[in-house]
Amino acid sequence: MASSSTSHNGFYYYVVMIVFSTMVVACAGSFYQDFDLTWGDNRAKIFNGGQLLSLSLDKVSGSGFKSKKEYLFGRIDMQLKLVAGNSAGTVTAYYLSSQGPTHDEIDFEFLGNISGDPYILHTNVFSQGKGDREQQFYLWFDPTKNFHTYSIIWKPQHIIFLVDNIPIRVFKNAESVGVPFPKNQPMRIYSSLWNADDWATRGGLVKTDWSKAPFTAYYRNFKVTEFSSMHSNPNSGAEWQTTELDAFGRRRLRWVQKYFMIYNYCNDFKRFPQGLPAECSRSRF
Ligand SMILES: *[C@@H]1O[C@H](CO)[C@@H](O)[C@H](O)[C@H]1NC(C)=O
Repeated sequence: MASSSTSHNGFYYYVVMIVFSTMVVACAGSFYQDFDLTWGDNRAKIFNGGQLLSLSLDKVSGSGFKSKKEYLFGRIDMQLKLVAGNSAGTVTAYYLSSQGPTHDEIDFEFLGNISGDPYILHTNVFSQGKGDREQQFYLWFDPTKNFHTYSIIWKPQHIIFLVDNIPIRVFKNAESVGVPFPKNQPMRIYSSLWNADDWATRGGLVKTDWSKAPFTAYYRNFKVTEFSSMHSNPNSGAEWQTTELDAFGRRRLRWVQKYFMIYNYCNDFKRFPQGLPAECSRSRF
């Protein structure tokens, strides 16, 4: 009797160990493992075993998260489903940033709108503390209906913003004409959902409707390919070396810029009466 009960316990111990070690494998690449919820108390949540994350905003507070790791170059993909319904006044920021007064930053910001009116996707690049490089786009789909993939390819030669694998913006390294490029400071991934109804929707004309709170955005399928660790892998050489989009990528980029770009600092002569920033003459492929 005693010995049978011991072997039972041994058996269960064995089963529990197998289940446990399987879970550890399944959690690899989960939000628990890669991110910290940084503010907003229980407004930021991880669920579905680490496969889904949500941020929400109510009248008291927004919320946010950041990556545990810092990255220096790589391709970073995340799927987002944005605040649905009347999202006017809300901003979902998803970005890479280093720290300190001369920080570098690569930004996606999604400016909400009243139901049925389009979100604006706002992008910016900061190098050594200086931004002022905005480009804004409408999307060719409703970003609140389904998850879509938003990606940043960050190499020493350029930064490419992609939506569902379609390049929407390329910021080239223009150090040769004196423009600092983000390439020395490792960055973390951040996201936050907050109220910006003083400027976000129609320049601040439309206010947040708090009767619709809480506002919620969802994240899944986070993936990072770090290029720096690929030096040792000979097969990754081509991806690392590539400095330009191929012909198909250039066509997609032109399509987005022609039909969906609504603001480009490089065309804003009023804003830069002394002349456009130096990188602007090089901003097109
Ligand atoms: C909201 O909708 C208005 C009207 O269609 C549009 O002018 C504006 O660009 C949209 N987006 C934002 C964030 O204001």
